[in-house]
Amino acid sequence: MNTDPGTREKLRIVMNTYKLLGLRETVREIILYLLGDRPEDDFDQRYNVGTIYQPKGTGREEETPAADRYAVEYVPTRECVMKYILNNACDMTLIRQSTFVDLGCGKGRTLIIAGQFPFKRVVGVELSSQLYQAAVDNLTRYRIEKHRMQCKDIGVICGNALEFDLPRTDLFVYMYRPFLGPVFQGVLDRLHQFHVTTGHQVLVAYACPVEESYLEGHGGFTKLREFQVISTDYSWSAWECRTPVSPMSRVSAIESPA
Ligand SMILES: C[S@@+](CC[C@H](N)C(=O)[O-])C[C@H]1O[C@@H](n2cnc3c(N)ncnc32)[C@H](O)[C@@H]1O
Repeated sequence: MNTDPGTREKLRIVMNTYKLLGLRETVREIILYLLGDRPEDDFDQRYNVGTIYQPKGTGREEETPAADRYAVEYVPTRECVMKYILNNACDMTLIRQSTFVDLGCGKGRTLIIAGQFPFKRVVGVELSSQLYQAAVDNLTRYRIEKHRMQCKDIGVICGNALEFDLPRTDLFVYMYRPFLGPVFQGVLDRLHQFHVTTGHQVLVAYACPVEESYLEGHGGFTKLREFQVISTDYSWSAWECRTPVSPMSRVSAIESPA
């Protein structure tokens, strides 16, 4: 069949959605997309937690105004999307030696999901004290119910992602469109600086990549893969920090014979 590139691209996006969500959810997704609606899932009922969407402006009173200006409201990642990313962004070896960090973890849903993978440690950072408290409560409830957890060290910190002390291990950094513009740029600079000074690997999984141009223009990150689906909310790309080539090593590479 001869299809033009635009149609092929659309088919690829629909196929990706099918891989991510399955047939029933893909059809539902297309309908909701056409209606401009937001799908719900049964995560909270299954785990007896409370991680549903919370509009911005409810409970953010005492936050840092500068960071808050660029903060995006709380929307949880869908469970199937998070699991797909964790299964496909990198191999298990990196997961075993990494700390999962969710910058802007909201009510902690991703921490519960990442805890089902063999990360060394799982940690979330959340700017809003109210959302942070919800994440703490959710993790407590989840532990009490004794659900399956592969990672035993799961925690959450209330603070600004721009000031968070990154754990000194390899990192799997997850961001679901948490902040925009200068805050996103500042976080990228810090992640890259961390990689350069410690030598630890830093993998960034960026969901709903609305600020991807900052990663593209940074110079310190290489795109490993991208996954586009019908809704931008569930599209994501994976990046790794790369070490800058020093001018000296560039000269010796040119001078030394092949
Ligand atoms: C779209 S939600 C994603 C929630 C969660 N990561 C998930 O995927 O379920 C973005 C979250 O980032 C938080 N946030 C925004 N700016 C932040 C900052 N500078 N530091 C920490 N958290 C921030 C918001 O309060 C919000 O809870």
